[in-house]
Amino acid sequence: MSGEGLESVTFRRPTEADYEAISRVVDDWWGGRQLDHLLPRLWLQHFTGTSWLAEAADGRLAGFLIGFLSPDKPDVAYCHLVAANPNLRRHGLGRALYERFFDDARAGGRTVVSAITWPANRTSIAFHLALGFEVQAGTGSQNLYGTPARAGYDFDREDRAILVRRL
Ligand SMILES: CC(C)(COP(=O)(O)OP(=O)(O)OC[C@H]1O[C@@H](n2cnc3c(N)ncnc32)[C@H](O)[C@@H]1OP(=O)(O)O)[C@@H](O)C(=O)NCCC(=O)NCCS
Repeated sequence: MSGEGLESVTFRRPTEADYEAISRVVDDWWGGRQLDHLLPRLWLQHFTGTSWLAEAADGRLAGFLIGFLSPDKPDVAYCHLVAANPNLRRHGLGRALYERFFDDARAGGRTVVSAITWPANRTSIAFHLALGFEVQAGTGSQNLYGTPARAGYDFDREDRAILVRRL
């Protein structure tokens, strides 16, 4: 799939049948970090209506975005995971996935999209800033890896930057 542009990539809603293909690539696409626990099957059972899958012409996985409309916060849509195949990066695929999710959020009456990311994931921070997200600073945040972030945000050990984009 290397060297291809986005012309041959198509977008659709994922189904539970896509679970194996997606969960298989998580560790590799996140640069070898062991992160597949972030994607138990339930995400492909209960959140497919607001998630997106990108497919190359040969049917192989090009990218995905797993997101949902917050049940508790009626103005917020939340992106849990977004990724592009490493061979297809910097061709606008991540942006195209998010744009579809922004449309879902607007259609659901949401005015804010939020996400969190590891502050040392500079690519993720740069990507989100390019898409119009802001990193939340202020109470409880400190400078981690050059980004305002909350130390020990999850499990009392995982640092996270909080990203917010107004629609
Ligand atoms: C983050 C990720 C989804 C971006 O996907 P992508 O398809 O390469 O992103 P796009 O081509 O749509 O990039 C949009 C803009 O984001 C910024 N950007 C993307 N990757 C970047 C990088 N490596 N360095 C700096 N800026 C970057 C650029 O401004 C880019 O626009 P440009 O290419 O015209 O300059 C992809 O790198 C990825 O899958 N990373 C691993 C998983 C991950 O960390 N996900 C995010 C946390 S959940």
